[in-house]
Amino acid sequence: MGIIFIKTSQMNFYELINKRQSDRLYIDKPVSREIIDKCINAARLAPSASNSQPWTFVVVDNVELKNKVGKKTVGVLRSFNKFVPQAPVIIAIVLEKPKLLTELGGRVKKKEFPLIDIGIAAEHICLQAAEEGVASCMLGWFDEQAIKVLLNVPENKSISLLITLGYTPDDYKHRKKIRKEMDKVVRYNSY
Ligand SMILES: Cc1cc2nc3c(=O)[nH]c(=O)nc-3n(C[C@H](O)[C@H](O)[C@H](O)COP(=O)(O)O)c2cc1C
Repeated sequence: MGIIFIKTSQMNFYELINKRQSDRLYIDKPVSREIIDKCINAARLAPSASNSQPWTFVVVDNVELKNKVGKKTVGVLRSFNKFVPQAPVIIAIVLEKPKLLTELGGRVKKKEFPLIDIGIAAEHICLQAAEEGVASCMLGWFDEQAIKVLLNVPENKSISLLITLGYTPDDYKHRKKIRKEMDKVVRYNSY
């Protein structure tokens, strides 16, 4: 039996995480700033190591600029990411310096805490978008240097991730999640 998704906030958490998927087809319909702000607020509330909050979210909804940024995500081979310029909104997550404690802790423990933090915040954005009936896709493949210049990101900072937001056509397919089986990913009490 297929899963039926409701566009309002009556979804439970499991339905919401199933509803979120990487959407790669967008119609020409803007996303309101109210909804975008809700998504950014959801990210702002995400946990982070030592509460460092090592992020700035650059929202690109100016059509001309968004098209330029979108084009800088398209791969040469196999037209990878060619859907991105269709999306009405692209959010660039800029990695900020964490607190000194986190930086030192990360060095000692050999952990990239700020990147973990950004991953969590990014998923908050996508889940909030899904709750609003807005489609999203995280993007790790892009011309970072070119996009930094387009968005006036200082040279010494980096963009960790982009996220598209937008609306899919009514007949856009919801895919069943392809994931490793539970017994392949979980072990209790011993590796
Ligand atoms: C860090 C990261 C980078 C990703 N980069 C891209 C990308 O550049 N282009 C793309 O189409 N999808 C990208 N994805 C989406 C993944 O392909 C997708 O999450 C995965 O296949 C699972 O599918 P689902 O998101 O629909 O559940 C990325 C996802 C993550 C978490």
